[in-house]
Amino acid sequence: MSGDTTLFSPPPVPLGTVASIRALMRDPLTFWPQELYDGETALHSRFAGNSYVDTSRPDDVTAVLLDRRDCFARSRFVKAMLAPAMGDGLIVADGESWRHQRSVAAPAFRQSALDALVPVFDRAALRAVGTMGTGGDRPVMPVLMSATLDIIVESLFGDAEFDREGVTRDVGAFLDVMGSPHILDLLGLPAWLPRIGRGEGVAAARRMRAVSAQILESKRAAPGEDGSMTAHLLRATDPETGARLSDEAIIDNIITFVGAGHETTSVGLAWTLWLLAHRPEWQERLLAESDGLDGPIGPDTLPNLALHTRVFQESMRLFPPVVAVGRQVIAPVHIGGVDLGPGDHVNLIAVAMHRNPAHWPDPDRFDPDRFLPEAVKARHRHAYLPFGGGATMCIGWKLALMEATVLLTRIVRAFAIAPVAGAPPPVPKVRVTMRPDDGMRLSLTPRLDRTVFGT
Ligand code: HEM
Repeated sequence: MSGDTTLFSPPPVPLGTVASIRALMRDPLTFWPQELYDGETALHSRFAGNSYVDTSRPDDVTAVLLDRRDCFARSRFVKAMLAPAMGDGLIVADGESWRHQRSVAAPAFRQSALDALVPVFDRAALRAVGTMGTGGDRPVMPVLMSATLDIIVESLFGDAEFDREGVTRDVGAFLDVMGSPHILDLLGLPAWLPRIGRGEGVAAARRMRAVSAQILESKRAAPGEDGSMTAHLLRATDPETGARLSDEAIIDNIITFVGAGHETTSVGLAWTLWLLAHRPEWQERLLAESDGLDGPIGPDTLPNLALHTRVFQESMRLFPPVVAVGRQVIAPVHIGGVDLGPGDHVNLIAVAMHRNPAHWPDPDRFDPDRFLPEAVKARHRHAYLPFGGGATMCIGWKLALMEATVLLTRIVRAFAIAPVAGAPPPVPKVRVTMRPDDGMRLSLTPRLDRTVFGT
């Protein structure tokens, strides 16, 4: 079983209605049947008066996210999960509200703005490596979560003072409680009906919003030319209308960036480290690439660490942090061989597409060369969907690849990574993201031939 990437077993045939509802509430990986993984296919089901299409066809991605995107809006299930904390932020909004927010947020994610954040990524990576200390057998998820939270929070706020532990606890509580669809949402019942068991998630969201509001106030009281994302959001105007974001919208997006950008990256890294633990030869290749790295990692260093980026991309193919992208139909459209109308749903199943042998020969094999530029060019552009696609493609995708590259470089240089002897392999469980069920226990041995600080 060592390093085998088939860590979960889809149902061999589609489930019946009751079993489907149970599976969806527990974990969608227990719902999508094997046929979605084997090739390009679309599965049609009906529930509570609506049609649902679950598809692993890249052409359907192109239709839903690009060519026919006017026929779709955000999934009401995703809205119900995220809106209590993220309000009408970028990942929840549709139509004009989405366009306005996306264009005002864009400058914060430009290459020059991201380059200025690389020292933040590197400092957080060095702190994470320091926390891992003398290594040993340990779950790595908590350290990775804390590093990516540090990164997103410092990127957003610069050096603003606030209760970091409180925010960390609240982000965790929110994602835990809100991270799967509630039965009342699945049944399409209205939002004012209380969702039992959601109280703590909503309370955590309220506390996070209050902290964000305070930080916004302190930034406004002491305006400066700091390169933080919040400063960008306060400054930027809509190129079409000249309007700025309201305070409410800035808070929605602060919470959105923390919620969307922190667990995703750390989960992706956890699977990357697990894959490398079983492949010491790839650790050697990474070490060869970072050999001679001297001093801090800056924006100029990153292009020399391209293999690290490809390793992370290949890991997200096998274990995509976000397993599917869902949309709700708002105008008649034909997808996956089915006529759909308002209220119906389409789910683009990234985790299945990523193992389609037609696009990924020998799909269960770990092979970062699949992400060499010529290989990427030769492939269907929507066979790989870790960040979604089209106009709503993840606004943080470059930031995520850059921070993951820096963190991976620092961790691989500091530790030889191995599986914990005798431990069972981790089982992927989807709760918002595809988390390892054991917190990703790995065995870390300090590399005595290299100092942590990169020389
Ligand atoms: C490896 C890390 C990440 C993964 C796998 C990931 C995945 C995704 C996916 C699949 C979507 C599309 C959702 C949809 O179309 O419904 C998305 C959208 C989004 N992501 Fe990420 N993300 C990552 C990192 C980040 C970071 C670092 C940020 C912010 C700093 C971020 C912010 C967002 C936002 C705001 C959207 C909504 C964009 C829009 O609709 O205009 N993400 N992400």
